[in-house]
Amino acid sequence: MADLKTAPSIDIQKIRDQFPVLHQKVNGKPLAYFDNAATTQKPQSVINTLVDYYQGYNANIHRGIHTLAEKATKAYEESRKVIQRFINAAEGEEVIFTKGTTEGINLVTATYGRQNIHKGDEIILSGLEHHSNIVPWQIVAEEKGAIIKVIPVLEDGSLDMASYRNLLSDRTKIVAVNHASNSLGTVNPVKEIIELAHLAGARVVIDGAQASAHLDIDVQELDCDFYAISAHKVYGPTGTGALYGKRELLEAMPPYQGGGEMIKNVSFEKTTYNDIPHRFEAGTPNIADVIAFKSAVEFVSKQGKHAMAAYEHELLSYATERVGKIQDVRLIGTAREKVSVLSFVINDIHPFDIGQMLDARGVAVRTGHHCTEPLMNHFGIEGTVRASFAVYNTMEEIDSMVEGLERIVKFMK
Ligand code: ALA
Repeated sequence: MADLKTAPSIDIQKIRDQFPVLHQKVNGKPLAYFDNAATTQKPQSVINTLVDYYQGYNANIHRGIHTLAEKATKAYEESRKVIQRFINAAEGEEVIFTKGTTEGINLVTATYGRQNIHKGDEIILSGLEHHSNIVPWQIVAEEKGAIIKVIPVLEDGSLDMASYRNLLSDRTKIVAVNHASNSLGTVNPVKEIIELAHLAGARVVIDGAQASAHLDIDVQELDCDFYAISAHKVYGPTGTGALYGKRELLEAMPPYQGGGEMIKNVSFEKTTYNDIPHRFEAGTPNIADVIAFKSAVEFVSKQGKHAMAAYEHELLSYATERVGKIQDVRLIGTAREKVSVLSFVINDIHPFDIGQMLDARGVAVRTGHHCTEPLMNHFGIEGTVRASFAVYNTMEEIDSMVEGLERIVKFMK
């Protein structure tokens, strides 16, 4: 198999050294962490930022005039600028900090959705969506009497774009799709999806959770109306993320939650709301994690996203080749364009059993429906085994997984 092990263009050992969690044994074996689509591990720089904040300048933001409060506010707002550049938004005000992608989408459905979706309107989702880009739309559709239509998924796990064209009409109000599928890794042609939606007069919401660590995100170039990401899928902390929205849309939207910071003036007779982005950030936000989100993005920028993606692609090709050759393996999701996610099933061996047996070898994969039950139903399966790769993974770790899978197949026959 050595021929498939091409030399990475970045120094993987140096990168691995920055992730303390990787250097441990699990069940007596060196950890091979392949659950990066669920959450990535955090580099020391991100951990240090969290510690520095709590040890050095923990204070609430936008409220105090004392030194610590000013330092914390500055760091928080710097993070907004860094995220703005990360997704190439035109202005920092178009970046709202959230708890993560799920909250970003819920924010859109609860504000823009409630305000603009009416009886008989249509919302187009895709068969590849995570529950977090299905259920919030079902809630608003049920409330308003709107109709949900679904872009079908083809056998290789890509979207049926011809059907998408046919679904679009002047009744379409929203198109909400992911940039990359968390379950299969499929990269969707979002630019084309957005262009076609706009021609039909619809607004487009992109779930960027799975794309953000692997693909270039340029919200101006895409011309999407909303784009949601999570920090924890890009080497950052859990509990924070960002929602991009076009200024004119955000400014016309009603508030999401009421509370401190999202107001200009409050009286019992009449309250006026703050400007964007603060209008959508009620209450004390997740200050430490937002600040550390900046360190995560800086980690990615330092390695270079393209170099990272190229290496992850090598990992994916190698794993696809090797796992694909194991007896009775069925790969689920073989689209031409993929981020580094490999989903598969092996005959009638339950994915949980495979996951547990791999864990006994120190190999961490995710098993189950990956919060995409409709997609699993489409393929007629309960779930898959999913190995998802990040920049710190190695070919040797893949060898260890493959060895484990071969033993499982032999043992279970
Ligand atoms: N959405 C995350 C996953 O795919 C949690 O595992």
